[in-house]
Amino acid sequence: MQTQAFRHAGLNAVYLAFRIEKKDLPGLLEAFDLLNIRGFNVTVPHKENILPFLTEISKPADILQSVNTVIRTPSGWKGYSTDGEGFIRSLNENGVSVKDKNVLLIGAGGAARAIAVSLAEHGVSSLSVKNRTPERADRLAKLVNAFYPDLPVDCNPENPIPGTIIVNCTSAGMTEGECPVVEDDISGAQLVVDIIYNPPETSLMKMAEIMKIPVMNGIGMLLYQGVEAFEIWTGKAAPIEVMRKSLKKSLAFI
Ligand code: ATR
Repeated sequence: MQTQAFRHAGLNAVYLAFRIEKKDLPGLLEAFDLLNIRGFNVTVPHKENILPFLTEISKPADILQSVNTVIRTPSGWKGYSTDGEGFIRSLNENGVSVKDKNVLLIGAGGAARAIAVSLAEHGVSSLSVKNRTPERADRLAKLVNAFYPDLPVDCNPENPIPGTIIVNCTSAGMTEGECPVVEDDISGAQLVVDIIYNPPETSLMKMAEIMKIPVMNGIGMLLYQGVEAFEIWTGKAAPIEVMRKSLKKSLAFI
């Protein structure tokens, strides 16, 4: 989707994937510098490993201590985290604003952390975090409250507040039949979002649909984290429809 977007914008650029060992990260950055590489994405397991080699970091990436997008600057490399913003933009595209909403996050891993910070930044009225391992939910709540002390954050709540936006940030659902919650956990929700994009419809989404709750999958978040990265690297508005089309075509092959 990035190469298609570069082509559409008339930029002489391509997006390539490299498999890198942790020990090779410093050498990689030197090589990227020599090759005049404008920027890159970082994924598991290097989202934290890359931090010591960056000269600058955005506020959300600093809170999360995790980076997925890097751009070359005159003084070095600057890191960003675009997953949370990507999530917010995918909701906005569907006419959903998170401002003054109650949001329940299922999960407390890297994806949940990124989304929690962006939700706090975009003015949710409360945040609840529920996780299979309750201590990780407590840790996420403490992280959010350290940076947003006025935001009410509830851990492992028994019942969601009616009208809540519920977001599955766990990997439960990538395998057919897996579901991270039971019906009672989502009853009364305004919207259920599953950040999983493969399969495009998870058991959780099917459960919500039967309960007449609107649903969204994770394709929008995947698209918009890339849209954000494109805009960081190029300083131009991303050709969103070109990227969406290319992404959908790629996903059809998974
Ligand atoms: P990511 O970076 O994608 O968020 P992660 O940091 O490994 O990945 O987090 C995975 C999340 O999915 C965690 O919240 C994990 O719960 P635990 O903290 O209890 O491990 C959750 N998860 C994974 N498999 C799950 C399952 N089968 N049921 C419920 N939660 C699950």
